[in-house]
Amino acid sequence: MSKGIIITGASSGIGKAAAIVFARRGWQVAATMRHPEKETELTQYPGVRLYALDVTRPSSIEQAIKQVLQDFSQIDVLLNNAGYGLVGPLETASEEKIMEQFQTNLFGAMRMIKALTPHFREAGGGTIINVTSIGGLVGLPFNAIYHATKFGLDGLSESLNYELSPFNIRVKVVAPGGVVTDFATRSLKQTTDGASVYDESLQKVFAAFARRGGNYSTGEQIAEVIYGAATDGTDKLRYVAGLDAQRLYDQWKALTNEEFFTMIQQGYGLAE
Ligand SMILES: NC(=O)c1ccc[n+]([C@@H]2O[C@H](COP(=O)([O-])OP(=O)(O)OC[C@H]3O[C@@H](n4cnc5c(N)ncnc54)[C@H](OP(=O)(O)O)[C@@H]3O)[C@@H](O)[C@H]2O)c1
Repeated sequence: MSKGIIITGASSGIGKAAAIVFARRGWQVAATMRHPEKETELTQYPGVRLYALDVTRPSSIEQAIKQVLQDFSQIDVLLNNAGYGLVGPLETASEEKIMEQFQTNLFGAMRMIKALTPHFREAGGGTIINVTSIGGLVGLPFNAIYHATKFGLDGLSESLNYELSPFNIRVKVVAPGGVVTDFATRSLKQTTDGASVYDESLQKVFAAFARRGGNYSTGEQIAEVIYGAATDGTDKLRYVAGLDAQRLYDQWKALTNEEFFTMIQQGYGLAE
């Protein structure tokens, strides 16, 4: 029998690439997204079915999962991929923007996990893969709120393994570095559009991020890492994905926090 995966945020980028990678290998794919009526590419893959699902809306999750479990004989993997980045100084972020970021990146994933855990338990097992970021392991400038959601998702994943492993449910984290998706154009929101005392530093940091674009992975490369995490049969928790992410993580592990802080400050032009 074909294996099944449910993916959030499958309308673009990593989520769409993952839907295609799994479908090409014979998996049944429940590709969930906010606006399935707009999707034209995934409909060409026979193993893919589309479902409307907004991770910030509990009723939409409940409805979609009920339908998916009716349509699919089995769901083996949940891929929590939906997310966006809120960047900029914490001081300038409204309560509403902070809440929306957590609702999507962290609470949305929690809701999906809660909704599917009973199915995995009853089926005798399953795999939950949470897409975080290298910013869920290492802190970079002017990403405090985004990183808080991704560090949160990382901690949630590590802890959950203790309570879910007795049911043969594994929780894994895929932590990409920069990925050439529409993330930077469609999924990056700023804490504020107005001027602030942080502007000079912020410009330096944005310029540094822009210079690093050459090292980025493609969505397909990250999707392959996700496929590996879903199928390697190991209890490995974290998959740092992309050469840039691996390099940064290695530096973070090799240096003291103080050394790493100085390196990043200098690298981003925030200190001499
Ligand atoms: N690109 C990078 O550099 C990078 C690096 C590290 C980690 N990541 C992580 O990778 C994941 C995917 O990002 P991407 O690079 O593939 O960007 P993307 O192409 O912009 O995709 C983001 C996806 O999330 C969906 N989404 C946003 N809010 C949602 C909601 N409330 N409910 C359901 N879906 C929602 C979007 O759906 P709509 O089409 O409806 O907007 C879209 O499908 C994110 O979690 C991101 O944090 C990305």
